[in-house]
Amino acid sequence: MTYWSFRLMMGLGFAGMAVAAAVLWRLRGRGSEHDEDRVSHRYWLWAAATVLFMPLLANSFGWIFTEMGRQPWLVMGLMTTRTGVSPGVTTFEVATSLAVFTLLYGALAVVMVKLSLRYGRAGAEHVPEDASFDPGERSDDDEFVFTY
Ligand code: HEM
Repeated sequence: MTYWSFRLMMGLGFAGMAVAAAVLWRLRGRGSEHDEDRVSHRYWLWAAATVLFMPLLANSFGWIFTEMGRQPWLVMGLMTTRTGVSPGVTTFEVATSLAVFTLLYGALAVVMVKLSLRYGRAGAEHVPEDASFDPGERSDDDEFVFTY
C-alpha cells in the first residue's frame, strides 16, 4: 500500500507537471492569431481533461500513504490507533455515516459531470460568431463567453 500509493502520488504530480510543461512548450513564442490551434488537437484536449483529476488522485494517494504508513500508530511511539478508537461511536454509526457520505458525494459527482458535459457541449456550439473577447469592447449586457 505505502509503496504504490507513494509512487502514484509522485507519479501523478510529475505527470501533471509534464503536461503543463508540454503545453507551455507548444505555446512558446506565442502572439499569432492561431495560438489556440497549437493545443486544439483531441490529444491536447484529452490531456487537459485528464489533468484535472490528477491533484485529486495525488492528494488521495498521499493521504492513503500517510495513514497506512504510520500504522499501528496514531502518534508515533505514543499512541496506537487501537487506543484512539472512540468508545462512544458504534460500528453501525460509522458504517451509516460512511454510506451516506458516499451516496451523497457520489450523487453530486454524477450531477457535476452531467452539468459539465451539458454546458461544455452547449458552450462550444453557442459562442456567438462575433463575440469579442476583449474586455474593453464588451458591455455589461453582452452574453458571457468562455475565454482563457
Ligand atoms: C515528487 C513529488 C512528491 C513527493 C516527493 C511527496 C512526498 C510526500 C511525503 C514524504 C509525504 C508524507 C509526509 C508525512 O510523513 O506526513 C507526503 C504526503 C502527502 N502528499 Fe505528497 N509528495 C509528492 C507529490 C504530491 C502531490 C503532487 C500531491 C497532491 C497534489 C501530494 C499530496 C500529498 C498528501 C495529501 C499527503 C498527506 C499529507 C498528510 O496527511 O499529512 N503529494 N508526500
